[in-house]
Amino acid sequence: MSTDDRRDRVREVRSRLAHDGPARTRDREGDFAAVALPERDGDLLRDLLIAEGARTVVEVGLAYGSSALAVGEALVAVGGPEPRHIVIDPFQRTAYDGVGWDLLRAAGLDATTTLVAAPSSAVLPRLLADGLVADAAFVDGSHRFHEVFVDLYYLRKIVRPGGLVVLDDDWTPSVRAAVRYFERDLGWSAVPDAFAGGTLRPVGDDPAAESVARCRALRLPDPPFEPAFEDFRPF
Ligand SMILES: C[S@@+](CC[C@H](N)C(=O)[O-])C[C@H]1O[C@@H](n2cnc3c(N)ncnc32)[C@H](O)[C@@H]1O
Repeated sequence: MSTDDRRDRVREVRSRLAHDGPARTRDREGDFAAVALPERDGDLLRDLLIAEGARTVVEVGLAYGSSALAVGEALVAVGGPEPRHIVIDPFQRTAYDGVGWDLLRAAGLDATTTLVAAPSSAVLPRLLADGLVADAAFVDGSHRFHEVFVDLYYLRKIVRPGGLVVLDDDWTPSVRAAVRYFERDLGWSAVPDAFAGGTLRPVGDDPAAESVARCRALRLPDPPFEPAFEDFRPF
């Protein structure tokens, strides 16, 4: 099958998911819309990864597979000998009945995707110990501050210098606070306008607050550095 055919297959599954929804959802009203990355933001994520030439991507949080399909489409478009997509989600089978993984299979992405069914705080240190080097990561797992902070702590060591970390839900105070430490103290820089034209949401869902892009893309410093503890800047 040609690259174009493989990409068309992923696009078709992505488009069907966006327009018809998943085959099954958790028993919660509007769960797909509440949980999944919107198609437009997925397109922007895909384009960013293609521009980056990403071949190895770590993703935290599979759920309905909307973002994973966008990452998969990017990996097909970039091509190369060994694309790798490692997706971490402890609840894909127990909470989501495997629906995200079924979609990745339908899109023909299962040969290049590895699903690890355990919390990211346990998996990321293992990937680091195994010597994995990724070009980029997409983070949309637990939104608790300490879990996001730990995700970013390990991704800083797994994603190559100058690589990308993209987060969903930068409008939530917990995600925002975690990522701001890495920006303020560790030299991560926001990629300007990476998600211009994407979904906007008021910070903390407070109607009086500023609306921000839901996704935020950050570039890691190259070369990497460790700051002195005396240089700590409250964030
Ligand atoms: C907002 S959803 C992800 C939506 C997904 N990006 C999409 O587009 O369909 C959050 C996901 O994170 C997973 N999750 C929760 N805690 C996690 C953890 N500690 N490690 C990894 N994934 C986690 C949940 O099971 C859920 O699938």
